[in-house]
Amino acid sequence: MNGQPAVSASAPGKMIILGEHSVVYGKPAVALAINKRFYCRVSRSGEMILNGRRVPAFVHPHISSVINDNGLSGISMDAGTQIPTSSGLGSSAALSSSLSLAVRKLLGKETDQESIAKDAFNAEWNAQGRASPIDTSTCTHGGGVALNCPAGIGRELWRISRNDRSWNVSEFDVPEMTFVVGHTGIKAPTGPLVEKVRKYKEHNRFASDIIDEIGLVTLQGMNAIRRRDKEDLGDIMTRNHKLLSILGVSCNELNKLVNASLPYSYGAKLTGSGGGGSMIALTDQPEKVCEAISLRGGRPIVVRTGEEGVRLEDGIPETIDSI
Ligand code: MEV
Repeated sequence: MNGQPAVSASAPGKMIILGEHSVVYGKPAVALAINKRFYCRVSRSGEMILNGRRVPAFVHPHISSVINDNGLSGISMDAGTQIPTSSGLGSSAALSSSLSLAVRKLLGKETDQESIAKDAFNAEWNAQGRASPIDTSTCTHGGGVALNCPAGIGRELWRISRNDRSWNVSEFDVPEMTFVVGHTGIKAPTGPLVEKVRKYKEHNRFASDIIDEIGLVTLQGMNAIRRRDKEDLGDIMTRNHKLLSILGVSCNELNKLVNASLPYSYGAKLTGSGGGGSMIALTDQPEKVCEAISLRGGRPIVVRTGEEGVRLEDGIPETIDSI
């Protein structure tokens, strides 16, 4: 780097198992951190330097939001990731969360999870337009996170508000389960898909009803998780996928991977913003699901849940690809 003292940090990616898109409108959602991480190492600089190259600030709105919120106009940052970008697996949320921790540590500021989650949410909001805190809170806290779950379910972590919306963020206890992520290989940035749903909802009462229905289905899913009922949870995930398809955020490739996984799964759905990106399947037969996904042209990854949230690191592992 540039000879200045440096701080390294990492944060996990995430998969939303229930409630994406409707969570933007204050409905409930559940997400789990996954064992794929984003790493960064930062040191002070008057300019924006990314992996040794000077870059204009606007190229990376998440990075500029986090550093500006912390009173800086430039930073030297090296970064590497195990999370495919624009894949629905939280790569930008993990970037924002790990960068917030590293910058805060560098500046001697508070490094509690709530401050980091709020910096990261702000970055997501600035970069994406409309956003909920589901991705950024999950990448920050790790494990299982629920938004807007009924009282008595989960342990409240923090509350985040923006304009007329407010979200209760809770730690949510999720049992050991096996998921296979199927990546379509199609990059689909979140902002335009969130905007598409906003327009649909604004002009069509039917879209609002679908969003309400996703909220109800997600509450049923939370209860299924609490009862440790994988069959019920799987059915609910598949229903959630159908509702997201009606909302217009699925695509042929995602539907193909979901349908191919279903014979070997409790249930399957797209995860994240859709339009490409990834789907997930809840299964006890991960090898069969991986094979079915590969046969349909997808890239399968078996993910481990219970992953730790944002944390300091000694550096960026050498085996990790640069962004
Ligand atoms: C994206 O991972 C999840 C969305 O619900 C957007 C958001 O909550 O900010 C589609």
